[in-house]
Amino acid sequence: MSASRPSIVRSLRLPDAVEARIAAEFDAPPPPDAPLSTDALLEAARERKAVALLVTHHTPITKDVLDRMPPDVKLIATVSVGLDHLDVDAIHARGIALTNTPDVLTECNADLALFLMLAAARRASEYAAVMRGGWGRTLAMDELLGQRVSGKTLGIIGMGRIGQAVARRAQGFGMTVLYNNRRRLAPELEHGATWVADLREMLPKTQILSLHLPGGPESDSLINAETLALLPRGAIFVNAARGRLVDEDALLAALASGQVAAAGLDVCRNEPNPDPRLLAAPNVYMTPHVGSATVETRTAMGMLALDNVVAAVADAPLPSPV
Ligand code: DGY
Repeated sequence: MSASRPSIVRSLRLPDAVEARIAAEFDAPPPPDAPLSTDALLEAARERKAVALLVTHHTPITKDVLDRMPPDVKLIATVSVGLDHLDVDAIHARGIALTNTPDVLTECNADLALFLMLAAARRASEYAAVMRGGWGRTLAMDELLGQRVSGKTLGIIGMGRIGQAVARRAQGFGMTVLYNNRRRLAPELEHGATWVADLREMLPKTQILSLHLPGGPESDSLINAETLALLPRGAIFVNAARGRLVDEDALLAALASGQVAAAGLDVCRNEPNPDPRLLAAPNVYMTPHVGSATVETRTAMGMLALDNVVAAVADAPLPSPV
């Protein structure tokens, strides 16, 4: 790769500090306002002889895309921790380096999971509707009552970095934390949580369920009619991981019957066009896939992606290789 002003193409505009660094250190087209289509991304990469592509989860890189990849592209730097939009094996097979942005978004994603948990348990959608209607009358003492989060039993599926950060926060709420993960973690990473090897054993004890595992074929529809039925009635459900983990018909049925009292969702199957039934359900609180969307975190993600480009150009070890 060439040593001066590496040519890069990004699929989306990045925060100001990252854009300023791109302008100063890289050769790149102006930032796109909307996500570039795959075709537009490839065309821009070809035109500029780009050595690196910065993509997000909006940009799938499949075998078909790789077949059309311009030959100068040596690095795909995804500005995400998740990899489910990428055919990782095929990228490696083509000899293209791949990096992601782990660690820098852990705390921010965990914050959002807690936000969703509180929003769902405390009926944020319904309260917002009351306020939007002008409020106008005193609520009865038994009206629109939510659930306490403090003291509840939280079940975490997927105890990676984000799951651990959620467990740490849950201690502050006096929650009992259970986790289901392929293997038990070292005690210092458990943050007081208890490993339950069998999901079917954990779910009946779980009053609040939060997903923190990667998307992909293995975990597709892990949350379905059968697993939802194992929860105690009136459980709270939180998904800040990936929409494909959930059978949404089953979730909607559980929300309608009261089996699940409320859900807080940052992700859904058909992003950015959620099932309208989810949007209409009063006991669903949704955010538009914004787990990492703070100035600090998005800036750190963009900077890490650029650090990877710089390292790749210098043939130095990549800071966050996949
Ligand atoms: C991630 O980093 O994986 C976020 O979900 C954004 O894609």
